[in-house]
Amino acid sequence: MCGIVGYVGRRQAAPILLEGLKKLEYRGYDSAGIAVIEKHSFEVMKRAGSVEGLSAAKNFLGRTGIGHTRWATHGTPTEENAHPHIYGRIALVHNGIIENMKPLKEECLKRGESFTSETDTEIVAHLLDGYYEGDLLAALQKTAARLVGSFALAALSLEEPGKIALARRASPLVVGRGEDGTYLASDIPAIAAEGMEIYALGENEFALLDGKSAHFYAEDGREIEKKPLEYSLEEDVPEKKGFRHFMRKEMSEIPLSIANTQQIIQSYPKIFELREVLCHAEYIHIVACGTAYHSGLCAKIAIEARARIPVEVAVASEYRYRDPVIQRNTVVIAVSQSGETADTLAAAELAKRSGATLLAVTNVRYSSLARLADFVLFTAAGREIAVAATKSFNAQLVLLYALAEELASAKGRGACGAELLSLPLLAKDALAASEEVRAWTPHFLGAKSVFFLGRGADHCAALEGSLKLKEISYLPSEGYPAGELKHGTLALIEKGTPVVAILTSSRLAEKTMNAVHETYARGAKVFLVTSLPEYRKRGEILSSVLIPDIGETYSPVLSVIPLQALAYYVAVARGNDPDKPRNLAKSVTVE
Ligand code: M6R
Repeated sequence: MCGIVGYVGRRQAAPILLEGLKKLEYRGYDSAGIAVIEKHSFEVMKRAGSVEGLSAAKNFLGRTGIGHTRWATHGTPTEENAHPHIYGRIALVHNGIIENMKPLKEECLKRGESFTSETDTEIVAHLLDGYYEGDLLAALQKTAARLVGSFALAALSLEEPGKIALARRASPLVVGRGEDGTYLASDIPAIAAEGMEIYALGENEFALLDGKSAHFYAEDGREIEKKPLEYSLEEDVPEKKGFRHFMRKEMSEIPLSIANTQQIIQSYPKIFELREVLCHAEYIHIVACGTAYHSGLCAKIAIEARARIPVEVAVASEYRYRDPVIQRNTVVIAVSQSGETADTLAAAELAKRSGATLLAVTNVRYSSLARLADFVLFTAAGREIAVAATKSFNAQLVLLYALAEELASAKGRGACGAELLSLPLLAKDALAASEEVRAWTPHFLGAKSVFFLGRGADHCAALEGSLKLKEISYLPSEGYPAGELKHGTLALIEKGTPVVAILTSSRLAEKTMNAVHETYARGAKVFLVTSLPEYRKRGEILSSVLIPDIGETYSPVLSVIPLQALAYYVAVARGNDPDKPRNLAKSVTVE
């Protein structure tokens, strides 16, 4: 997982590469590097840490170059393991994982070659140099044929200074043709500019770029024509707007993100075709990862309750390697903020191959997932920079809930869901109330473990609250079905263990309170997020936040807000950067 960028043309390459890398940091930020060709040698700078560490490289001269921002897969995040990897006449950057690195490395070692890094990519650079006989593209084609795994590769050769060769398998790669030169990147926003034509490399395709043109090739070496993609430039430049962190700023945008997303289904240009498909849907599978998976769990409750269609929700990395039963009239919904998550893309591809209708729910208009799907519903959350997903989760829920209502009406189950219209205002209230959780922070700082409990939709919110806390505060935590605790996990509760109960269903409230009693009796400090004011006064509750009531089915869209805030305040109090948590990246583009 990583971001790659490249340029060949009339301008100095280095500033373009650095600019592009900054926009790709959502794909990894544990080390970065660039290489440009200057007078038949490589100028290289690599640093552990973020792209900022490369600022001195902006003065590199040279009009052909490649760059990389890394999320470590093979090898620790050090300068040695940072890309580009240079070997012989070759410089190489790579996004993906080479799975047969062991035999390939042995082959190189037998030839007496030595390695300076622990990465799989360095091995590819060795192979490429070995195959190189004055034709970079031909060498890359031979190299790619030896590789098992996923890759987007961009290679330079000192012997062909005005060229960049590219190869792609299972990792995204786009090429841009501008006035002044030719660009490449892992995604469109990293290079997009006024008047630029952008092309996407397909699976197992290659490209050769020079300063004036880009040529594309199929796996068998045939040159192929490509149509430019439709895209529009992003207007919003991400700024913190007075907030200390992007995460907090993005939380403040939840009401707007909900309001904008509510417009999406009604103004969807293919709504009639989509309704037709929904009308015949007999099974729904939702595939996603992380927070998006939790949206899927919330959507299952809403769709089954409202439309009575069976919904399976699967973690995409499991679904892709199972043999899922995809029957006629199965609609597969792939949910992904970025639209670039490798496992979600693979699960979506599997669904398509198996004959399902693929509906994408994504926040990124020109993402790989959006290009793959039969139908695409965009969450209008706006750019999300913080690694911890917040406003995009609320937007996914609103969109999936609107879809549940569409399904219900397609199945003749009557229109309902009017309460959803007031959500932007209610989200504002929930945000204001969430400030109260700041006072909870001291109870969490040194906790050995934290539990989030709920039933039904509250359990889905609990899972998301727990993920958020783990991700940015680094505290061990579990989201648990309240009724299941006593079957083993209760053993972990000890004096002072923080427990956060979520209570939005009057139907299930007393049942959840049973679990609250059980933890309280064993010394837990119990905090409550609820829409039911009568529970705030219960003796077991140390402190509570009251959120607006929208009924249990749709409640996670509001109940998650105090949980996001809790994770934020605990992370900041522990001295962590909630925007860039350790070991993680915004978009997980390897499996
Ligand atoms: O871009 P995606 O929605 O596909 O990303 C999926 C997960 O990687 C993501 O939701 C992750 O769990 C978040 N960082 C959690 O806050």
